[in-house]
Amino acid sequence: CGIIGVTGTGPAVPRLIDSLKRLEYRGYDSAGVAAMVDGRIERRRAKGKIRELEAVLVAEPLAATIGIGHTRWATHGAPTTPNAHPHKAGRVALVHNGIIENFAELKAELQAEGRAFESQTDTEVVAHLLDHELGTGKSPLDAFKATLDRLTGAYALAVLIEGEDELILGARKGSPLVVGWGEGEMYLGSDALAVGPFTQKISYLEEGDFVAVTRSGATMFDASGAPVDRPVVQVSASSAMVEKGAYRHFMEKEIHEQPDSVQHTLSHYLDLVTGRAKVQTLEAGAIDFARIDRIQIVACGTAFYAGQIGRYAFERIAGLPCDVEIASEFRYRSPAVTPGTLAVAVSQSGETADTLASLTWCKGQGLKTAAVVNVHSSSMAREADVLWPTHAGPEIGVASTKAFTAQVAALLALAVAAGVARGRIDGQSEGELVKALFEAPRLIAEALQMDADIRAVAHDLSKATDVLFLGRGAMFPLAMEGALKLKEISYIHAEGYAAGELKHGPIALIDEETPTIALAPLDDVFEKTASNLQEVAARGGPVIMIAPRTAPDPHGAGIRRIHAPDCHPLIAPLVYAVPVQLLAYYTAVQKGTDVDQPRNLAKSVTVE
Ligand code: G6P
Repeated sequence: CGIIGVTGTGPAVPRLIDSLKRLEYRGYDSAGVAAMVDGRIERRRAKGKIRELEAVLVAEPLAATIGIGHTRWATHGAPTTPNAHPHKAGRVALVHNGIIENFAELKAELQAEGRAFESQTDTEVVAHLLDHELGTGKSPLDAFKATLDRLTGAYALAVLIEGEDELILGARKGSPLVVGWGEGEMYLGSDALAVGPFTQKISYLEEGDFVAVTRSGATMFDASGAPVDRPVVQVSASSAMVEKGAYRHFMEKEIHEQPDSVQHTLSHYLDLVTGRAKVQTLEAGAIDFARIDRIQIVACGTAFYAGQIGRYAFERIAGLPCDVEIASEFRYRSPAVTPGTLAVAVSQSGETADTLASLTWCKGQGLKTAAVVNVHSSSMAREADVLWPTHAGPEIGVASTKAFTAQVAALLALAVAAGVARGRIDGQSEGELVKALFEAPRLIAEALQMDADIRAVAHDLSKATDVLFLGRGAMFPLAMEGALKLKEISYIHAEGYAAGELKHGPIALIDEETPTIALAPLDDVFEKTASNLQEVAARGGPVIMIAPRTAPDPHGAGIRRIHAPDCHPLIAPLVYAVPVQLLAYYTAVQKGTDVDQPRNLAKSVTVE
């Protein structure tokens, strides 16, 4: 979703609309603004495009010098006006991107106080909480800090408070937020594009920061509440550059967008508010998981590894047999498919020739077909019976990152839906798995904080000629994806292996020059992976183990540890994808290769 805030002396609302139009290219379906009119907050909201909101504003104009705006990407519940942002409670109006994981508990607490809620959203809880804190006599900043301290989740916020005629509060955790510096006018936006029509002078808030913006400037604080200065940078006016923002490469930017892209994708399939998987109710002609016997996934490259991760979930959660195959093999080997099989193509572009041909072939065999694609107007999206979208947004870097995690997120959510439909999990387990999935954006944001550790490892990796990635369970395909990422952009030879398979051959490669990267979340095979690492260390191979802090140390010295966030095993592939991607990214940067356009590769391969 998109956020914009303006505080100055000129008319704010036309500026909000200008900015929202800029953000609309991402495909939004409801929008709203709130502005301060004679000391009172007034809202205008509309379902549909920004021009619908404009029509509402023509009928009922808002004359104000301060306001906030939002474009919503319908996630929780329908894109209705009551669910559109800004949300309001008492003296507070605010807009929000992201997820408030603990909204249910906060809502119950606020309801017990007699507060009434208008919407189904998690966002409205934040407005009430802040209004409650203001009611205890705290200053706006203290009340905001107290509110933020109670929120669990990933979010970007922009806030108006009645009685504060030029103040906009903002906070970022997981979802980006920037401050734009104008002349006698200041801005808050979800990215540089949002404030692009007004200024090229930007400060990027860092993880956990919050900010008070007035028409003359901005005061920024870190998560502890200590004042901080975030540098003002000049971004180029060209839209591509504005889009890349503070990042050196699109790949780096896209890695950092994953809390948002995963959340958008999950929200399509799951409902945070009810804790239910909502796939079955999505559209007519939807797949009935209770009536299929088998899933056949076809894909290429990174999408193939996403499919393999999906397989673990479909079999474990839904008891649904699932095969995954490289499309270029599948299409030419006359596979023996059985009726009752659902064919699923997984693809970022939706155009990859081999995947598309496999999908068409399956359709020709009379199979039901579905496509998990990021480009919703693509050939596969049109060819398949059912479109299962990912919402990663446009991916520019040739090496896929956010499209991959979006594919994994969609497949995991679909597996939960299949588990419910097939009666393999009850309402309680469904709720637990949905909750675990909605924790992913926050934990991905935490994993992004592993940056410094990963850089240090990348420094060593850049000198290697061969690297091994190891994992078990869903970490095995992720190990292969890690190896692929490293090969693609740093040109270092790498292989991903199932940790238990090492001793059947690849262990012969181990020497002091060959680093092994182990992906070891605390799951039911952790101990097994840990003993495989001892086998490597015992043979003098350098081992880097990516595992949570709470995981025990494998016996035997020589294993370097990098701490990853603790997470539910279901979402480990989403959380561990981050260090894997960062490792490839920093190694490539260290080597000075062309990260966004590596040699010999193409983003979309439409030849067989
Ligand atoms: C190319 C890209 C890969 C991608 C693969 C499949 O090889 O370089 O990054 O994984 O195609 O692309 P798709 O668009 O089908 O996901």
